[in-house]
Amino acid sequence: MIAAPLVALALAGIAAGTPAPAVPTQPSATNPQCNFWQGVRDRFINEIFLGVCAQDVHSMVRISFHDAIGFSLHSEKGGGADGSMIKFQDIELKFPANEGVDFIVSFLQPFADDVGISYGDAIMFGTAVGLSLCPGAPRLPAFVGRPDATRAAPDKTVPEPQDDLTTIFARMADAGFSPTELVHLLASHSMASQAGVDPSPDLLGAPFDSTPFDFDSQVFLEVMLRANSFPAGGSGPNIGEDQSPLPGEFRLLSDRLFARDSRTSCAWQENALNQTAMATNFAAAFKKLSLLGQDVTKLTDCSELIGTPPPAKNAQAFFPAGTNHDLIEQACATQLFPTTLSTVAGRATPIPVVQLQDCPTCPTFKRRA
Ligand code: HEM
Repeated sequence: MIAAPLVALALAGIAAGTPAPAVPTQPSATNPQCNFWQGVRDRFINEIFLGVCAQDVHSMVRISFHDAIGFSLHSEKGGGADGSMIKFQDIELKFPANEGVDFIVSFLQPFADDVGISYGDAIMFGTAVGLSLCPGAPRLPAFVGRPDATRAAPDKTVPEPQDDLTTIFARMADAGFSPTELVHLLASHSMASQAGVDPSPDLLGAPFDSTPFDFDSQVFLEVMLRANSFPAGGSGPNIGEDQSPLPGEFRLLSDRLFARDSRTSCAWQENALNQTAMATNFAAAFKKLSLLGQDVTKLTDCSELIGTPPPAKNAQAFFPAGTNHDLIEQACATQLFPTTLSTVAGRATPIPVVQLQDCPTCPTFKRRA
């Protein structure tokens, strides 16, 4: 059992008085090749994630996508899941779609250097470790041994929320993903917030759903709801932003369109209604993402080191207070949204922003020469 560093919780933006969730018991390595990685895992939990599923896990999941999708089956678009986002940060972090990724890079690079692992492994192994702290998340597979990136990915490999869906689907297909697999990957937006689409100080960390610390179906249900306003304190409408149905909640334009487009609406609704399938499908699509550009036969499978995430707090999505089934904008033509989901009574209350985490141990990390 790993002790969560309580001292760090104040820095983690965890409200004073909130009991720290227990870090799940972590498994031991049986494969000798994974012994080293057991220590890496423990350092990730204690020094980067501070024992909690919070902002740094969210940032890790996002950088995983942005790093790996720099890949093409048909032309030269980078080496995939290779850590080029860190190795060639002078180039890639300047791309508009990577706005905000610099924050986790500033922790992760010195951490990876200190531990002595490649940046590609730091991103993907770290994401698997981080997600294991999140209620409702699947256990992700964890392969290690990615060599250092040899080249930067070019601009425009990462979709943006203002892109039209045909462009987004074409980019994903170029990397080997169908529209349905993209929806499966978008379960990541169940643990997500924004800082760059609307940079207003009040909206730093404005979440995409009402439960941003849980890997659950809420984002899929809530994006299906009729929306009525841009978040208070923001400057909406901004490019790539859509109105949202709940105070404090932030909706990406692309997410609204995925939920209503005939190519993705049924997969979207399926995720809203079936949390178990959502988690399983995410794990399968994420495994594919994590291996883009890599030869799996040259990697070591250390998935045995990844702990079992805590169970989801709610087995099924619900209508948050102030919303109900009448607000569902039905788009899937083959299945009606059921009327059986529960509704929280009362008036809508603003959803708090996700706080940034600090990295108290970062100054002690030694950079590679
Ligand atoms: C293809 C369509 C996608 C678009 C247009 C998109 C766009 C965005 C945008 C604009 C943000 C907010 C960034 C900010 O302002 O700080 C965001 C956050 C996020 N995205 Fe996506 N995304 C997409 C797919 C994905 C995928 C496939 C993943 C992971 C597998 C992912 C993971 C995340 C996470 C975890 C966050 C939250 C980061 C945080 O809270 O720090 N996204 N996304």
